[in-house]
Amino acid sequence: MEIIPYNREFKRENFDCGKKPLNNYILRNATKDVKSGACTCFVILSDTDQVIGYYTLSAESIPKKDAPDKLQKKIKYEYIPVILLGRLAIDKNEFGNGYGKLLLIDSLKKCLEVTKNQIGAVAVIVDPIDGEAIAFYAKYGFTMLPTSGRMFMSMNKIELAFKE
Ligand SMILES: CC(C)(COP(=O)(O)OP(=O)(O)OC[C@H]1O[C@@H](n2cnc3c(N)ncnc32)[C@H](O)[C@@H]1OP(=O)(O)O)[C@@H](O)C(=O)NCCC(=O)NCCS
Repeated sequence: MEIIPYNREFKRENFDCGKKPLNNYILRNATKDVKSGACTCFVILSDTDQVIGYYTLSAESIPKKDAPDKLQKKIKYEYIPVILLGRLAIDKNEFGNGYGKLLLIDSLKKCLEVTKNQIGAVAVIVDPIDGEAIAFYAKYGFTMLPTSGRMFMSMNKIELAFKE
C-alpha cells in the first residue's frame, strides 16, 4: 500500500474515523495547512482514490519543564526541539486492517531520517485525542509527558526500535 503526499484533488468527503475534529481536519483544513507549510500530510488511498488514512507532521518545540526528567538533565536549552505527529486517522471501514500501524511506522521512519541526516529533534510527540488514542500510542511505546497531556517517544528509542 503506497503512502503519498496529500493533494487537494483526493476524494475525502466521506472520510469518517469516528472523531469529528479529525474528519473535519482532512476535509477542511489540510489543504491550507499543507499550502502554508504548517505541516506535511501523507495519505493512503483506496482503489477508488478515496482517502482511507492520513497523518500530519510538523516542527515543534516543548518547554524543557514539560519534558521527561531524564531529558531535562541532558538538554541545556529552555525549549526542546521535537517533531509533532499532529494527527493520525483511519477510516472506520478500514479499522483493524493494519493501516494505523503502517502510517505510524511510516511517520516515525520519516522523523528518524530527517533527524539523523538533516534537522535535529530529540523526540516525536503526539496529541492524543482521547483515551483510545492514548492506548494506541502507548502500545507502540509512547509515554505520557508529565504536564501537557501529550505523549513522547525519544529519537533514540525510535532508532532502537527500527534496529530490532
Ligand atoms: C487509532 C487508529 C489510528 C488505529 O488504526 P487501525 O488501522 O484500526 O489500527 P491497526 O489495524 O493498524 O492496528 C494495529 C494494532 O493496534 C491495535 N489497536 C488499534 N486501535 C487501538 C487502540 N485504540 N488501543 C490500543 N490498541 C489499538 C490493534 O489491535 C493492532 O494490534 P495487533 O497488531 O497487536 O493486532 C484508528 O482506530 C483511528 O483512526 N481512530 C480514530 C482517530 C484516532 O483516535 N487517532 C489517534 C490519534 S489522535
